[in-house]
Amino acid sequence: MKSELELRGVQQRFHARGVSGGYITAVDDVSFTLAARPPQVVSLVGQSGSGKSTIARNVLGLQKPTAGSVLYGGKDIFKLSRAEYDAYRRDVQPVFQDPYAIFNPFYRVDRALWKAVKKFGLTTSRSKGLELIEESLRAVRLEPENVLGRYPHQLSGGQRQRIMLARVHMLRPSFIIADEPVSMLDAQVRKHFLDILLDFQREHGMTTLFITHDLSTVYYLGGEVMVITKGSIVERGPVSTVMHNPSHPYTELLLDSIPQPDPDNRWTTRIKVDELDEEEKAEVAATSGPETPII
Ligand SMILES: Nc1ncnc2c1ncn2[C@@H]1O[C@H](COP(=O)(O)OP(=O)(O)OP(=O)(O)O)[C@@H](O)[C@H]1O
Ligand SMILES: [Mg+2]
Repeated sequence: MKSELELRGVQQRFHARGVSGGYITAVDDVSFTLAARPPQVVSLVGQSGSGKSTIARNVLGLQKPTAGSVLYGGKDIFKLSRAEYDAYRRDVQPVFQDPYAIFNPFYRVDRALWKAVKKFGLTTSRSKGLELIEESLRAVRLEPENVLGRYPHQLSGGQRQRIMLARVHMLRPSFIIADEPVSMLDAQVRKHFLDILLDFQREHGMTTLFITHDLSTVYYLGGEVMVITKGSIVERGPVSTVMHNPSHPYTELLLDSIPQPDPDNRWTTRIKVDELDEEEKAEVAATSGPETPII
């Protein structure tokens, strides 16, 4: 178990046709540290195409950056020995948007959990293995008898996601790299999932890098947030500070773009047309019918 994951000047370029220079820079000189202790949740938020998943792939060792390095316990993950890399693969666990693709549709979901038991040598005893699996399923609030023996398509998206969390629970990694894990879940199931991640942090000391484009999720998780735009991290700090006192114009823009649903406030603000300039008056006139002077 290593205490720190660090990105140092990570750059990721991809060849792209029809772009000046023949490449795009998806991740541009990104540096940050994730500490295992004390366990924390750090969200990485930014709009589509800002480079979030590329960073996740760099951190997970799935994509070697074109410059800079990813360090685990001070060592470059692309230069680890076989044994060190195996330890890394256990200690830094991914959770993706929809694990449907990870499950083989022809096998029962149990297999994904047994594979973890075997691959990481958690136990050689069948009964102890089953015990571990059942304990981990309960830890993610799944009843083993409701999910074991089923095929992936016989489970809901939320259940499949939680089976991936059960796998994480069995392995007890120091770090979880979660790339948009709740984007496809409805509000209640999403909350459930986030609560489990928070349990993992509190009860098992796991640190999560939580990737999302959704600020309400960031707010719910608390902890820290990093804001990314066009491949660069422009701000990092405690969620409450960044959200209430953004120091970068892009963060302000991101915050402004969240619709604030508040039924009590609806239609109560009356813009005084006198205070608008000519262009704005024209816009109001164009968007308001004769009976709707309130916007
Ligand atoms: N393998 C690749 N080859 C070429 N370009 C890529 C590759 N992977 C990502 N890109 C490009 O890099 C940029 C960043 O992509 P990335 O998937 O990291 O964004 P993202 O922030 O995860 O977006 P989203 O919120 O939509 O998932 C995009 O312009 C994307 O098209
Ligand atoms: Mg992505």
